[in-house]
Amino acid sequence: MQDLRLLDVAGVRMSASQELVTLELYERWAESYPPVSHNPLMRAEQEAMRRLWPAMTARRVLDLACGSGRYARLLAAAGAATVLALDQSAQMLRQVDCATAVQGSMTGLPFGSGSFDAVVCGLAVGHAPDLEAWMREVARVLTPGGVLVYSDFHPQAAAAGHARRFRDSKGGIHSVPHHLHAVGAHRRAAAAAGLTVEAMAEVRVGIELREVFPGSAAFYQRWHGMPVVLAIRAVNPCSP
Ligand SMILES: C[S@@+](CC[C@H](N)C(=O)[O-])C[C@H]1O[C@@H](n2cnc3c(N)ncnc32)[C@H](O)[C@@H]1O
Repeated sequence: MQDLRLLDVAGVRMSASQELVTLELYERWAESYPPVSHNPLMRAEQEAMRRLWPAMTARRVLDLACGSGRYARLLAAAGAATVLALDQSAQMLRQVDCATAVQGSMTGLPFGSGSFDAVVCGLAVGHAPDLEAWMREVARVLTPGGVLVYSDFHPQAAAAGHARRFRDSKGGIHSVPHHLHAVGAHRRAAAAAGLTVEAMAEVRVGIELREVFPGSAAFYQRWHGMPVVLAIRAVNPCSP
């Protein structure tokens, strides 16, 4: 789990080439990235996210950086009126089956202002080099009263050397670059974008994350209590 080579622990912005690396890695990861929570961390993260969700019935919603469309499926099942799912990876988008798939960048959304009642973004904001710009762009596409629910790999886990890693079909192990955004930076970015943070939740090792997996006993003992996922609900206040 520990691999700092590609982590941006100093908070230094990544170069364009590092963002291309991210895209390339997700194109490769897509073949083993089904549109459901497929590991213990994702299952615990999804539980935390679901506790923060507003009612989705009849809402226009966006699954931002949707990957293979795990949240798009849940949003459709929750009765959303329309579900759009955006990602930059064509290979990921090929698996989206419950939403209108849109290829694009989450830092320059191809949607008009006020297009969505809710935006859901799972485990992806760490790929945005500029958190404030990301938050402004999300706030722009939210309606007044619209809700943003998002999660990310926790900055404390990243700082401790944990990384997003996957094994490709040839057995190669890859770490995906990650921008470390401190908890306070999320609050500041939301405030700067005019959003109000209503709730924050953490998934902690051995507490919310407690599923048994190979090696879990040693992992839970060593890292007990460390937050591995941060989940946030923020609202775009209605105009007075
Ligand atoms: C860890 S995956 C999460 C996928 C999905 N949200 C989920 O929770 O199952 C991160 C996703 O973010 C996408 N991504 C990374 N940077 C992006 C960007 N700048 N614009 C759009 N998508 C991006 C990747 O292609 C990848 O599908």
